[in-house]
Amino acid sequence: MNHSTFDRSRIALPLEEMRSFGYRVVDLLADHFANMEREPVGAKAESAKIISLFSGEPSERGRDPHELLAQLEREVFPNNLHVDHPRFFAFVPGPNNFVSTMADALAAGFNVFNGTWLGGSAAAALELGVVRWFCQICGLPAAAGGLFVSGGSVANMTALVAARHALLQDRVEGATVYFSDQTHSSVERALRVIGFAPGQVRKLASDQNFRLPLDALREAIAEDRAKGLRPFCVIANAGTTNTGAVDPLPELAEIAAAEKLWLHIDGAFGAAAVLAERGRTALRGLERADSISLDPHKWLFQSFECGCVLVRDAALLKSAFQIKPDYLRDVHRDIAEVNPCDYGIQLTRSFRALKVWLSTETFGVAAFRQAITRGFELAEFAERELRARAGWEILSPAQMATVCFRFGSDDALQTQLVDVMLRDGYALLTSTTLKGATALRLCTINPRTTEEDIVETVNRLDRFARQRL
Ligand SMILES: Cc1ncc(COP(=O)(O)O)c(C=O)c1O
Repeated sequence: MNHSTFDRSRIALPLEEMRSFGYRVVDLLADHFANMEREPVGAKAESAKIISLFSGEPSERGRDPHELLAQLEREVFPNNLHVDHPRFFAFVPGPNNFVSTMADALAAGFNVFNGTWLGGSAAAALELGVVRWFCQICGLPAAAGGLFVSGGSVANMTALVAARHALLQDRVEGATVYFSDQTHSSVERALRVIGFAPGQVRKLASDQNFRLPLDALREAIAEDRAKGLRPFCVIANAGTTNTGAVDPLPELAEIAAAEKLWLHIDGAFGAAAVLAERGRTALRGLERADSISLDPHKWLFQSFECGCVLVRDAALLKSAFQIKPDYLRDVHRDIAEVNPCDYGIQLTRSFRALKVWLSTETFGVAAFRQAITRGFELAEFAERELRARAGWEILSPAQMATVCFRFGSDDALQTQLVDVMLRDGYALLTSTTLKGATALRLCTINPRTTEEDIVETVNRLDRFARQRL
């Protein structure tokens, strides 16, 4: 392009330049999706070097967008971890799909406003349809509803705001909340944000299977009642981040019902697995929740940011969040219309449901079921590979696509193995602490991971561990 011949102040590219720029972007993405397994799993850049690349003043007169793409290819994309890579087993991977990526481009390109029915009626209707489907696979009743949010952290907070409003009329003094020490930190943070002091939070020691122990819960509730406090909410895990452990959901639902507590289930990691037979069995009791967090950007293969909060009685979510300001009077005139902004903290919101809809319709629900099942199987395969080699101890057997293990008993060695694998670049895993011991962890939710990927990852771990001993 002759880069000086158009009026930049319109913040617009000429038609042909839009096309060639867009095609180049699509080519980059298609090549990434098609070839990523032949590339390293990503890199962590040296901080001084990478910060200096972006510390200059912004361009005054503009630059050639193709040159900018080349810069991104050179400096940005290789210097991140590729959470979508089939050998990225760290934290919770982000194995998004190409169709979902294109849906994001469409949602951003049309700049769909998904905050109100007036602003985006088709978007709201599509979101309602996807949310209804999620409620249905989780076994929630017809009155259930929910909202797409940025991720599990905001889903947890949104659910807890609904709980606080419904059960406490927003007065938190003396109210107490219960969950296991395996619960994601976003729950604790959400409670902090919505006004709970640390003294109102009961983080109970998990049992040997990393689950919330029922007796300890009953005792803690009884103790708090005896002190005149107001037990109000139990938060259960449908797949913990550490080990994939699922708390005893049916029993917790019984306790919550008997004690008149709100039951929130954090299924940010695991709830999507309910779509598949294996997940449905593991997550029995999910249908008893008052609210559920479910992150499509994890085990439902969507691009970030795609979380979802589901509430058994959608009206409770609405009464917790709805405010009707003057300037939205046209939005609120027809009370039959559903305004997503009435169900959460965002007014302006992107069209997150589109990527779930477009990719599910493209590949079919059966493909998603198989892809989820594959996650379970790959973790079990990894466990068998580890058990077949001397010196490896399984600290938490494969469950919900997660297995935790270590080589020998030296905590420092496990951490070194994370670093060696990162430098090696073939595969990536991270460590955690389980009952005081440092553990390595593989999370195998990427459906594009092969058995060979797992074998070679375990081979490398084994070789590096023995070299370091
Ligand atoms: C169980 C669980 N809850 C909540 C979260 C937070 O989700 P997000 O990072 O999407 O905010 C995570 C993230 O890994 C998770 O595993």
